[in-house]
Formats: sequence, structure tokens, C-alpha cells
Amino acid sequence: MAIADRAESVPKQTTVSRDTFTTRLGVIAATLGSAVGLGNIWKFPYLTGANGGAAFIIVYLLCTLVVGLPVMITEHVIGRTAREDAIASLKKLAPGKAWWLIGASGILASFLIMAFYTEVAAWVFAYIVKAVQGAILSTDPAVTEAAFADLVSSPVQSLVWQWIVLAFIASIIALGVSKGIERMTKRLMPALFGILIIVVIRSITLPGAGQGLEFLLKPDFSKVTGATVLTALGLSFFKLSVGMGTMITYGSYFLDDQDIPSTATRVMLSDVMVSFLAGLAIFPAVFAFGFQPESGPSLLFITIPAVFSSMPFGQVFMILFFVLTAIAATGAMLSLFEVPVAYLEGTLNWSRKKATIAVMIGLAIVGSTAALSESLLAHIRFGGIGTFFDLWDYLTSNVLLPVGGLFLCVFAGWVLRWDKLKQWLSNNGTLDNEGVVRGYYWIVKYVTPILVLIILLTGLGII
Ligand code: TRP
Repeated sequence: MAIADRAESVPKQTTVSRDTFTTRLGVIAATLGSAVGLGNIWKFPYLTGANGGAAFIIVYLLCTLVVGLPVMITEHVIGRTAREDAIASLKKLAPGKAWWLIGASGILASFLIMAFYTEVAAWVFAYIVKAVQGAILSTDPAVTEAAFADLVSSPVQSLVWQWIVLAFIASIIALGVSKGIERMTKRLMPALFGILIIVVIRSITLPGAGQGLEFLLKPDFSKVTGATVLTALGLSFFKLSVGMGTMITYGSYFLDDQDIPSTATRVMLSDVMVSFLAGLAIFPAVFAFGFQPESGPSLLFITIPAVFSSMPFGQVFMILFFVLTAIAATGAMLSLFEVPVAYLEGTLNWSRKKATIAVMIGLAIVGSTAALSESLLAHIRFGGIGTFFDLWDYLTSNVLLPVGGLFLCVFAGWVLRWDKLKQWLSNNGTLDNEGVVRGYYWIVKYVTPILVLIILLTGLGII
């Protein structure tokens, strides 16, 4: 059931023997494996907390629906039709034009995302060990906050854990698409879902949980500014792994008869559900134990230990939770790592091993700026944005991904246009989905690009 090499059975448009996902479910599982990650469990809750709760969630959901989802469909159809990596796919569909630059900016974006993502993953890995040692078993905010501060302020711990994460991901990547990616991600999604439900039940039954539920469910739009909307938009790109060609690469492994709009919709819905569960796990506890919802990137790491510490067998569940989070993060990191590796392999003809090692070393260098951003490099600050860590986060989610998504929509709506999209998205007329494709086309041609442009310009303070 893994992604076997289907060179013989894949029809004409496949030129080289390219790995393909072999089952429809496998496609959804692998795509979800890229989408679900620290974005759901770490970023969504911390941004929701920092931006006022329910109103932010509503703006985020709208962005996901009219921006994230159409861009995802666009990337999948480009990848499946061209069956190449992001850059080569765009070159193939628009020869002699500059559209491949979207893929090139995607390689930059995947590097910068990995720079801070591997550091957050490093905290998760380190927390597995802390959980085993019982070092974070406390419901006292002062204790769990100190445990986190101790980790991030130590340059050695931050760097070494990041290198462990990098080496771990590189070794999976070096094994190849079929053996690596799918086997890891597919089986463990349900387990993550299960443990999240257990945490949610504990969290919402805590005394004082009501305030957290209110924070999550009762919108106060007075807190929504242009910058907030841009943050929500950036999150919708980041969450679905779109705007930089990752999903083009994944689309290139899709089946010829895969229903792309329905696959993308299902991935989006499951992804939103996981985020919401993470929110339900965290916010009731935030208020019950007296944490600050605005604590920023540390939110997950200070609240979750407190929730587990307040329940029977808490330590066991806490270990399980961080292990599963590490696995979800791994699925996402694999997809980020795969983008530059696929490029070096496909276009520059490097061996997979050589490409993997080169990317790993590059990431260790760029990533060290994020790893050291709370210790040796803490004095370097970028205006209203913050440390190196915050800079890479801001630059990718709020600039590179929306700009990439904007150009992808223009490419689909104004270059590929109706006839091609209709043919490709209906799998040459074998799917009876003209209404769906028409709706998608109208949104991707007019609504999404204009909306993204306006949000970008206002959010960045240009208008
Ligand atoms: N979507 C992942 C998450 O939420 C992160 C991620 C993986 C990503 N691949 C990406 C983000 C590509 C942007 C682009 O954790």
C-alpha cells in the first residue's frame, strides 16, 4: 500500500519512472501528513491566543476557504499534469516564461520555514525527554514556564536538539519517497487524533474551563486589524502547506483518476478539525491554570504539561502526546525537505544522498539563527517583528507564501484558463464536476488574487 514504483501502469504523461501514490486513501494520508503538523498544535493556538481568540479563528477559516483551498487545488492540478518538481512543472506548462520563479521562491521559503520549524520540533523532541524524566510535571505556571525558558535560553541544548531533528529527517528523506514519507505519516494520524481527544476531554472538564471556551467561541471583532487579517491569511497558507510549490511536488505523485477538488477539500476539513481540537485542548487550560493566552510561541510548551499534570496517568499521556506531535511535525518537515531535494535531484541531477546532505548542512547553518534567537543572538531584533526566529516566521507566512499563492492563482486563472483547467480537474471529462470546477475557476481567477493583494498591501502597511 505504500507509494510503490508504478512506472509501467502510469499513462503517457509520465516521462521518467516516477514514484506515485498507489491508493486514493494514500494520497489523502500523505497530503494530510504534510498539512498537519506544528501548524495545528503549536502555531494555530499561539496565534489565536495572541490575536484575541474567536474573531481570529473566523477570519482564519474564511481565508482557508477562499484562499488556502483554491491555491491547494491549483498546486495539485499543476503537479499532477506536469509530473515534475515545482520549478520544472511550471517550466513545462509555461515554456519560456518566468512562472517557474514561483517554484524558485518556494525553495527559499521552504528553507526559511525549516529554519524555525526544526527549532520548534527540537523543543518537542526535548520535551519527550523532559516528560520521561518527569521534569515538567506541574500545574504551576511558574514551574512550566521556567522549564521552557531553561531550554530556549541554552545555546547548546537548542542547537543539539535541532541537529538531532535535522539528522532524523535527512535519514528518512535519503531512503526515498516510497519507503520514507508515507509509511511514517499514514498510520499515525489516527493516534494523534485519539490523544488530542483525550486531552480535550480533560481540558474542558477542568474547573474554570468555561472562560477558555468562551475565548474560543465568542468573537470580539474589535481586536481585528489589518495586521491580524494578514496573520490569519498567512496561517491559512502555512497550514495547508501551499504558496510555494510543496503541493505541486505532492500533486506530481497523484493518481491520474484522483478527484483533486474533493481530495483537497477533505484534507482542508481534516486539517481545520485538528487545529480546532488543539485549541480546545489548550485554551480551557490556559484560563483554568492562570496562563496568559498571549504568551506567543511558548504557549503549547507551558500549558500542555499543566493539563497532563492534572490528570491520572498524566505522565504517560504527556509522553505519548509529545511523541505524536513529533511524528506530526516529522510528516510536515519531510514535505518541506523534499522540495529542495527534489529540485537538486531532478534539475541538477544530483544523487538523492548528495542532495539530502547538502540540504541538511544548509539548514543547520540557516537554522542556527533561529535556534540561538533566545540566547546568543537574542540582542538582534528586527523592528516590530522580533528575533531571527520571528523574522523567518513572519517573512514566510506573511510575505513569501501569500505572494507565491497570488501568482499561482493568476497563473491558473489567466494563463492556464478555463479549457485546460476544466479538462484537467475533471480528469478528461470522466468526473461529473463541472459546477465545482466552475466555482473554483471563478474564485481563483478573481476573488482570491484581489483578496490576497488587498490583505497583503494593508497588512504590510503599504496602503
Ligand atoms: N503545514 C505544515 C504545518 O502546519 C507546515 C508545512 C509543511 C508547510 N510543508 C509546508 C508550510 C509547505 C508551508 C509550505 O505544520
